[in-house]
Order: sequence, then C-alpha cells, then structure tokens
Amino acid sequence: MNIAILCSGNGTNLQAIIDSVNKGYIPAKIALVLSDEKKAFALERANKAGIETITLDKKDYKEREDFDREIVKRLKKRNVELVVLAGFMRLLSPYFVKEYRDRIINIHPALLPSFKGPHGIKDALERGVKVTGVTVHFVDENLDNGPIILQKTVEIKEGDTEETLLERVHEEEHRIYPEAIKLFVEGKIRIDGRKVSIKS
Ligand code: GAR
Repeated sequence: MNIAILCSGNGTNLQAIIDSVNKGYIPAKIALVLSDEKKAFALERANKAGIETITLDKKDYKEREDFDREIVKRLKKRNVELVVLAGFMRLLSPYFVKEYRDRIINIHPALLPSFKGPHGIKDALERGVKVTGVTVHFVDENLDNGPIILQKTVEIKEGDTEETLLERVHEEEHRIYPEAIKLFVEGKIRIDGRKVSIKS
C-alpha cells in the first residue's frame, strides 16, 4: 500500500514511521512526504531516507480548497491509499475529507475529545489535569473529531513544563502512530459510526 505523510514541522513522528517502514514493521511504501512549510525539518528527514518530497505554499492558492485539490491530485497520481497527518497544522477542506473518506488519520497530543486544537499539550498543562495522553484518529470535516483508533495516557508530573511533557508525549506518539498505521495497512481496522474496532 502506498501511503503519504503530510507534515509542517520537525517530523519526529515522520521519523518514527520511516524507521518502522524500514524495519518492515509497517508493510507499506511511503510514496510521498508533503509539507506546507518549505523550512520544515521533516523534509530533510524524508530526503535523507530517499523519499520524494513536495512543498506547496498556501500563498499560491486563493482558497483552502484549491490548495487541497492540488494535494489530492498529487496523492492520486501516486496511488496513495492512506494519508497520514503528522504535525500537519492545517485544517483539511470538506473536499479533501470526501476524496479520502476514512483513509486520513491524524495524531493529536492529548486525550480527545479533550484539548482539541493546535496547543494540546499547553492547554492540558494549564488546565491542571493529572493525566493527558495521545490519540490517533480518523479525520472528518470537524477539528480533531473523527473516530478514535488508539489512545495512550501520559501522566502529568509535579513540575512538568511544556518541554518535559512534550518529551513523554512524543515517546507515546512514536509508539502508537506506527502501530495504528500497521493496523490500517493490514486491514485490521473497522469503523462503525463513531466507533473503531480492531481485529486481533
Ligand atoms: C505532534 O506532537 C502532534 O501530536 C502534533 O504536532 C506534533 C508534531 O511533531 N499535532 C497536533 O498538535 C495536531 N493538532 P513532529 O513534527 O515532531 O512529528
């Protein structure tokens, strides 16, 4: 199966996925890494791994949907069957979601439906919760809202800062994102309304 990974930043999740593919843990090919930020370090990681990269600049597109149409065109050209958002900090248009319905997944640094949005770690810390975590979920038309595939908890410790918490959140992300992708690629995920069941 061909997969594409969309990133905007550092790409530590991308790296975990590349490593899992190279080890044979995920039986898929990363056909493309696409970024909306030309300076994203994720692009360097992909280049180093010999993966094709594309950068699209939103300034070149009038509407969000025009930008997404360009992405979808590039994905289809490469027969991409699963779209993996890994720190891609853009909301997808309904057009994109419709074209890849139930075939777009995202990772979020909190236990959804808590702390949606771009600051999941900071928001959990500021709210004073004792436990947060990570969520892998399908993407639908609403922000951080689609059916949940996997979740893991991360305890918040006395004296945690955004940096220390981010480190532990990332450890979990780098474990469960490859796991979720493997499950998808192996056809072990079934969606029934809001619920996801996993075949053993
Ligand atoms: C990850 O922690 C991911 O959960 C978060 O961006 C980070 C990207 O890190 N995504 C969101 O906050 C989406 N709402 P990375 O570029 O090192 O993989």
